[in-house]
Amino acid sequence: MKGCFPLSSFNSLRTPFYYYDLDVLRSTLDLLRKEADRNEMEVHYAVKANANPRILDIIRAYGFGADCVSGGELQAAFQAGFPASGLVFAGVGKADWEIDLGLEGNIFCFNVESVPELEVIDQRAGAMGKKAGVALRINPNVQADTHHYITTGVNDSKFGISLQSLDEVLDICLKLPHIELIGLHFHIGSQITEMDNFAGLCARVNEIQNLLDRRRLFVQHINLGGGLGVDYHYPDQVPVPDFAGYMQTLRRMLVLRPGQSLHIEPGRSVVAQCGSLISKVLYIKKGLQNEFVILDAGMTELIRPALYQAYHKIENISSEEPEQKYDVVGPICESSDCFGKQVVLNKTRRGDLIAIRSTGAYGETMASNYNLRPKAPAVFSDDLRC
Ligand code: LLP
Repeated sequence: MKGCFPLSSFNSLRTPFYYYDLDVLRSTLDLLRKEADRNEMEVHYAVKANANPRILDIIRAYGFGADCVSGGELQAAFQAGFPASGLVFAGVGKADWEIDLGLEGNIFCFNVESVPELEVIDQRAGAMGKKAGVALRINPNVQADTHHYITTGVNDSKFGISLQSLDEVLDICLKLPHIELIGLHFHIGSQITEMDNFAGLCARVNEIQNLLDRRRLFVQHINLGGGLGVDYHYPDQVPVPDFAGYMQTLRRMLVLRPGQSLHIEPGRSVVAQCGSLISKVLYIKKGLQNEFVILDAGMTELIRPALYQAYHKIENISSEEPEQKYDVVGPICESSDCFGKQVVLNKTRRGDLIAIRSTGAYGETMASNYNLRPKAPAVFSDDLRC
């Protein structure tokens, strides 16, 4: 089954471009809103997944908050009109100017990853006569079944505060005059489809909360981060992730204290399936054993296959001819600039349009101008005639 694209409109556009099907985005957001309300969860959309202003604008209009990991993302969130009260600022290495931006903007919470960072935030908040709301990001040492480059919650990871040092960090945190400890933050990785992984995280959070109880400490919120995966193999059959199953798992497993709120930071699950990278075939090249389809898009527009050996469904949307196998590659001077080997495509010719699917998350935001390539534009379904 192939995706449905406005081919006649595409034919007049310069390639490559990121195509966003806003109906898919809106139906994803409709469901996310419904399930978040039903399960009483605060959602901070992870801006790193897609920071296109138009996409941010649509997400903001649903009343979600945002999870930012840099000064640039904070600025993008402010510009898109996300209220400061819905902004969280994470990241293992926040620069002073970025911390100041968050403090000046009165954001809801800094997700803090180390004692030195706590001390800098305390000092800079003090200089502004403010108190910073802080959640400690704890490394729960929970394994996630995903690519090791995108697991974050295990012991050798650079992220978070280790369980072993938590007591000591709490002691320091509670003494800092310009810090208010308001939450605990976790994130175990990305593209997680096994609900057991999230259940494991919840079990660990429960243990940590018991530890806090013993210290007579209460935090207002628990933030479980992002990580819910999408179906890269069947973007049309499963365009919207199972938010209900995910949230019910969290609600069932987590033991919250009275008055405590539950927060999540989904990124990929919100935007992946609304995006496709549309590219034109430059050449068909016969190799010794295989036939190459050489596209005008490469790892500069979508780095996920090169970086994580990630699978993305690839379709020739111009051809209905019999299928055969091709190696689909980009034009960049790197052997890893390959979108897929032995990909089954309808017979492909120079000039055909190729859709690389599920690129709404970590596609456009991870683009580079390596080889001095210009940035590919974004095209939105609402602007095209079908
Ligand atoms: N919260 C924190 C603290 C995170 O580190 C991340 C992602 C998220 C939320 C959002 O996670 P999501 O719901 O999107 O899984 N570039 C990689 C993914 C890196 C994810 C980094 N952190 C990729 O293309 O697969």
